[in-house]
Amino acid sequence: MQAVIPCLDLKRQHQQLKQEIFAAFEEVYEQTAFSGGQFAEAFEKDFAAFCHTAHAVAVNNGTSALHLAMLALKIGAGDEVIIPANTFIATAWGVSYTGATPVFIDCDPFTWEIDPAKVEEKITPRTKAIVGVHLYGQPFDVDAIRNICDKHDLFLLEDAAQAQGAVYKGQPVGGFGEMACFSFYPGKNLGATGEAGGITTNKEEYYQRLLSLRNHGSVVRYYHEELGFNMRMGGLEAASLRIKLRYLPSWNQRRQAIAKRYQQEIKNEAVQMQQQPEGHVSVYHLFVVTTADRDGLMNYLKTEHIHPGLHYPVSCHLQQAYAHLNYRPGDCPHAEYLAAHCLSLPMYPEMTDEEVDRVIHVMNAYRA
Ligand SMILES: Cc1ncc(COP(=O)(O)O)c(C=O)c1O
Repeated sequence: MQAVIPCLDLKRQHQQLKQEIFAAFEEVYEQTAFSGGQFAEAFEKDFAAFCHTAHAVAVNNGTSALHLAMLALKIGAGDEVIIPANTFIATAWGVSYTGATPVFIDCDPFTWEIDPAKVEEKITPRTKAIVGVHLYGQPFDVDAIRNICDKHDLFLLEDAAQAQGAVYKGQPVGGFGEMACFSFYPGKNLGATGEAGGITTNKEEYYQRLLSLRNHGSVVRYYHEELGFNMRMGGLEAASLRIKLRYLPSWNQRRQAIAKRYQQEIKNEAVQMQQQPEGHVSVYHLFVVTTADRDGLMNYLKTEHIHPGLHYPVSCHLQQAYAHLNYRPGDCPHAEYLAAHCLSLPMYPEMTDEEVDRVIHVMNAYRA
């Protein structure tokens, strides 16, 4: 029987880096720097340099990063924050945790990113910010969203959870808005050996506030200026991230090479791919395609020992958790289409050329 090609295989990366990471863990144990501390601080410096930003703040996961960024902007009850309907739900959690209301916007039918043409009609006197998501690793239309923010005096935030190293018009993501939020969940392009996240910013004011918020609202130990949180990054996670960050550019290049092969060599009219505007350089966290009969393609791939992923089957505006906001099917038609028709092809840097060949061959043989 042929070996299964999974959507993601983290074991290969772990095998490759095991020695190096375990040696770094030894150091963390030597220093007993398990929570925050020198390893987290060193990672912050490295990651800020990687993103070309003045600061990075290491936190315990990407959802906390979004929550804290909202708090740093003083967003709270009564406020509205515009976000895309097609994203992982955590983009919305960051808004809701503060008591503010997420306002969901449909995506562009071709790039699958937040559609700037749909944003202005949803702006109200309560709107405080727009969160753009660099979905699947591909930058959203930053200039168009930033122009809307400037025109209406709104904050711009990036949800860059899926896009470490992606480039928009020559600049890495992370420095386009007030702050950018990253996830270092193990399966991300840059994934920790545990839960982790981070926030980048060029503004000192937000940086200082984030340092306090993630640490019980405290700058001086045991003096608490405001309601704070325990959202520090662990030392083991930070140590593993520092090592992996050095490999990230080559991993992203390998993802781009695999994506290029999928784009050029999968020739099947039953399958559509995410369109990439000029200057939006994706790092292909996921390689999502759509097709009329998603379940049919899923089952076919499984019988061929290829296990696709599904990101994401329900658009955020129709999730049960947001039923009280009274969105209806049809409110964000393109996001809903995507949810009903998408699947994710295998994508990870350690895929062999033979595995990529097989995915292409099998996709080309698919008949709807
Ligand atoms: C777009 C997006 N935003 C936010 C998050 C939340 O990150 P985490 O899982 O680290 O909390 C994720 C990842 O899971 C994500 O994909």
